[in-house]
Amino acid sequence: MVSKIDEKKAIVFGLTNQLDLAKLVANSLRIKLTEIDTTIFSDKEILVKSSKTVRNKIAYIICSLDSHNALMELLLFVDSLKRASVSRVIVISTYMCYSRQDRKTSQRESIGAKLIAKLLETAGVDKLISFDLHNPSIQGFYDIPVDDLRWIYQLTNSLYKEEKKMKFTIVSPDHGGAVRARRFAELITKDIKIAIIDKRRTQPNVSEIVGLLGEVKNKNCIIIDDIIDTGGTILKAAKYLKESGANNIYLAATHGLFSKGFEMFENSDYIDKVFISDSIPKVNKINSEKLKIISLESMISKIIELDFHSKSISELYTLKK
Ligand code: R5P
Repeated sequence: MVSKIDEKKAIVFGLTNQLDLAKLVANSLRIKLTEIDTTIFSDKEILVKSSKTVRNKIAYIICSLDSHNALMELLLFVDSLKRASVSRVIVISTYMCYSRQDRKTSQRESIGAKLIAKLLETAGVDKLISFDLHNPSIQGFYDIPVDDLRWIYQLTNSLYKEEKKMKFTIVSPDHGGAVRARRFAELITKDIKIAIIDKRRTQPNVSEIVGLLGEVKNKNCIIIDDIIDTGGTILKAAKYLKESGANNIYLAATHGLFSKGFEMFENSDYIDKVFISDSIPKVNKINSEKLKIISLESMISKIIELDFHSKSISELYTLKK
């Protein structure tokens, strides 16, 4: 079968934590993933390099910046490619750490998302493709092109059949997610209603709900967020909806960090399903009937194919109804 990209001109890599996803992407592009040779020294420093020549080729690197190690691995690998005369480096990072540090909210804070942009550009990244950046304005922190793709298209494609029976109300767990909830609602059907939870963050990772805008009584709800970290925000929102008379409650988020584990979702009797992407690879290790993983694989394969052939990516923003 003919490859979807020309392997003489382009090469695809998967960094450690997204190697399985990268293999699926390579399979769907009908190419071979190129191996990365990694040496780990006794002090835990790493040395990474392509196992094959990259001279004058486009390198696509699939990774998830979900930890400091992953970030360092990417920076070193990009540097190695540049020094080996690659033509362009295109990073497809399913998750971008420090995206929530996108501005100073009090004195003497850093702006982590801007620093990550500077680090990637300094290493030599020519283009970044990512998914649901916490704040789309982060694109402007970069002087290279950034494609901020939306997992909700993939999610909506998977939810059509269910929506016909369930008639959901889409709920944002805070004011900041209202636009996301509205966009998601409109993708499903034009007349779908949204509700917004009035949340106040009292300390880092701690929040309090003070009210609800919209109607959820006797409704099936999907709470949509970009990130589930500790789970505090979305679990409190789900409890609040249940106490306000909601029927079935589904949760959906692109990035499942689950930094306090999945047990509290598993054990919650007011949560029926949790939809998540595989942007954070460890979600694949969670074994739960409640968890539905909707992979980014097809979007990544498609964007590599379109980018390689210099085609518009607008088809990634259309639904397969
Ligand atoms: C906040 O602005 C984000 O969109 C998420 O709501 C937040 O990061 C989720 O964190 P946690 O699960 O710890 O409440």
